[in-house]
Amino acid sequence: MDDVHPIERTPLRIGPYLADPPVVLAPMAGITNVAFRRLCREYGAGLYVCEMITTRALVERDPGTLHMITFDPSETPRSMQLYGVDPETMAAAVRMVVEENLADHIDMNFGCPMPKVTRRGGGAALPFKRKLFGDIVAAAVRTAEPAGIPVTVKFRIGIDDEHLTYLDAGRIAEAEGAVAVALHARTAAQRYSGQADWSAITRLKEAVHTIPVLGNGDIFSAADAVRMVEQTGCDGVVVGRGCLGRPWLFGELRAAFAGEPVGPGPNLGAVLLVLRRHAELLVDHYGPDKGIRDLRKHMAWYLHGFPVGSSLRQRFGLVRTMTELDELLGAVGELGHDEEFAVGAEGPRGRQGSPARVALPENWLDDPDDASVPAGAELMHSGG
Ligand SMILES: Cc1cc2nc3c(=O)[nH]c(=O)nc-3n(C[C@H](O)[C@H](O)[C@H](O)COP(=O)(O)O)c2cc1C
Repeated sequence: MDDVHPIERTPLRIGPYLADPPVVLAPMAGITNVAFRRLCREYGAGLYVCEMITTRALVERDPGTLHMITFDPSETPRSMQLYGVDPETMAAAVRMVVEENLADHIDMNFGCPMPKVTRRGGGAALPFKRKLFGDIVAAAVRTAEPAGIPVTVKFRIGIDDEHLTYLDAGRIAEAEGAVAVALHARTAAQRYSGQADWSAITRLKEAVHTIPVLGNGDIFSAADAVRMVEQTGCDGVVVGRGCLGRPWLFGELRAAFAGEPVGPGPNLGAVLLVLRRHAELLVDHYGPDKGIRDLRKHMAWYLHGFPVGSSLRQRFGLVRTMTELDELLGAVGELGHDEEFAVGAEGPRGRQGSPARVALPENWLDDPDDASVPAGAELMHSGG
């Protein structure tokens, strides 16, 4: 059982919304669709952000993107993350959100480290261009504000150790009217490797005075979340990989922030029921074929730490239909439903990778005040 103590804190407000507990599901491309958000919401409260949506794809009404912005009727507030590199396209996308009532909260993604994005000046490369960054945030805020839609901004520490951008990004976002900022405490060069530097969250909290600062990076248990808040003074936490195959983490986070004891994770039988529920929700969203195919990537995470043999695991990874899934769940169930959640399974999960030099456009670092829009950095499909 985690040793979790109640902590003193002021309630987290994201514009008009109270996030209690002060917990945000991190936007994760390919993961935080309506099905996964619903599953997570069934365990706790807070804010649950959709996977990133590319502004250009949205304004061009790309059918796949329009499907990605599906929200459950019970979802409130509807939280949409936008990725963009051009103030005009950002404004057009937010105008569409406002006019068509597509979301209640907008988060902006300036943390993507993928080479295909940074090479063109997008994602985590962009905040280095302070003026352009400010223009994009301003475009979103000015368009969303009259409709009462709050805008938050998520970014990394910087491009690499020599090019830190987060303190400027925080101050600029605050000045342009963002209602909160979230820091993934890694540089783009780190990708998902090594350890997040939580001391940067403390420094951002010292630099940003009027809006909440959310900390992000390496929260793999409720105790980690409480520790981050206590260590850094951040106003809330953003949880990504820790909830992969473990949506009940949001229940544990709720308990921890309420000062209640956090019990052991579910046993194998209970995990199988969660997996089955996830399958149903994905099938509702994508239909039977794509729904079950999409579930495959979650299998290893759900089974992590349980004594399920490699051949069964492999079959889970290749499952095609709900009937096949049910057969596999039955086969695993025969192993014993009482198998306990392994304490070791609480550790890091999901992407880790290794650090790499960040690909940037030529001369990108020459002039931080150049506000010209990088060419070709608008991804046409959402993802990352
Ligand atoms: C599979 C995956 C997809 C991600 N997609 C996005 C995204 O669409 N937008 C975004 O801002 N961050 C994205 N991230 C980064 C997470 O939001 C988060 O900042 C990062 O994983 C660090 O938090 P964690 O240590 O709790 O996982 C993604 C991360 C992963 C692992």
